Amino acid sequence: MRTKVAIIGGGPSGLLLGQLLMKRGIDNVILERRTRAHVLGRIRAGVLEVGFVELMHQAGVSARMQREGFIHDGIEIAHGERMFRIDFQKLVRRPVVVYGQTEVTRDLYAARDEAGGETIHEAEDVAIHGADGDAPYVTFTKDGEKCRLDCEFIAGCDGFHGASRPTIPANLRREYEKAYPFGWMGVLSETPPANRELIYSCSEHGFALCSMRRENLSRYYVQCPLSDSPDDWPDDRFWDELKRRLPAPVAERLVTGPSIEKSIAPLRSFVSEPMQWGRLFLCGDASHIVPPTGAKGLNTAASDVHYLHSALGAWYDRGDEAELAGYSARALSRIWKAERFSWWMTNLLHRFPEQSGFDLKIQAAELDYLANSTAAQKALAENYVGLPY
Ligand code: APR
Ligand code: PHB
Repeated sequence: MRTKVAIIGGGPSGLLLGQLLMKRGIDNVILERRTRAHVLGRIRAGVLEVGFVELMHQAGVSARMQREGFIHDGIEIAHGERMFRIDFQKLVRRPVVVYGQTEVTRDLYAARDEAGGETIHEAEDVAIHGADGDAPYVTFTKDGEKCRLDCEFIAGCDGFHGASRPTIPANLRREYEKAYPFGWMGVLSETPPANRELIYSCSEHGFALCSMRRENLSRYYVQCPLSDSPDDWPDDRFWDELKRRLPAPVAERLVTGPSIEKSIAPLRSFVSEPMQWGRLFLCGDASHIVPPTGAKGLNTAASDVHYLHSALGAWYDRGDEAELAGYSARALSRIWKAERFSWWMTNLLHRFPEQSGFDLKIQAAELDYLANSTAAQKALAENYVGLPY
């Protein structure tokens, strides 16, 4: 088997890259370890930057997102009983679009099917060979049979636990990591959202977030100890705790109902440098992770895909190697800014076990500054809607 670009991983990064390359006539094959149903069963965040929306247009997969996505012109920040709005339109003249990552992935798979793109699901033991030479290839097992895919480039879009990043020799890689001493307990419920826009809440009982997917589908989170499991959080306990962490008027109007999905995610910041080794290029979670507080996971993956598809396009259209050579530095420069923003928002809004009286006063002062300073609000808005590519 032969293709131009072998894409490892059929999550949002791999699918979006595959679609953008197909639009430019650059053929590619996606190797995905799981079934499509498994990939589509994962519930993830759903806030899209304008840059991401633009890439979906370019990839020709934006029709349903335009119909069903919600345009949000701001977010609410609560601190105890106080709540203030960050008005994106007024501050930076751009909104975000709320549309679930699961739906993005579904739309990308549908478009790939329609375009006749090849996706090999349940590809096991994927291994990358010769990435540091000019004839790379990927081996894998499918239905018990050993297969080989020859290619010109490899895109490692296989997430944090994938095979791509460890292919880069350890002595050439540098990893930067920060783990946070808590997780997020998330619940999906078929109830109307608590608010028209997202509410990020910092309370003395810990962080909470009110988000949404559709008119009658809400997504809520509460900060919880890392040692908790979803079994520790029966629905009643979750709703009581969520209400305790929201300003009274919001808690009073919150409509509760049975949860249809429940999970706990740890919070972590992680970056592995460089994002390129020879003809292997990493995108998305394969190379970096952010805590979910700024909703940057999917959006950072998208900026990598933007730089990589543009660089591959320059190479195939004009034989121009400069963009490919500059990919890692270019992508990382934007990634680190999203890392900083996600780390900052996490610190701003969570309760940390070791927080001293002084730390709490500083946190309260920072929230008060944000509530009253247009300059501070503009900095948040500019980062939340997404820095330019
Ligand atoms: N071989 C083939 N496929 C693999 C392998 C492997 N060895 N390891 C992992 N995969 C697949 C996973 O099954 C998954 O479908 O790669 C895909 C990676 O997808 P994501 O983890 O979603 O990562 P990415 O596409 O970079 O998306 C980034 O989406 O998942 C969120 O939190 C993430 O929001 C971030 C964004
Ligand atoms: C979500 O809707 O799941 C969501 C929204 C915003 C975040 C994180 C998650 O910051």
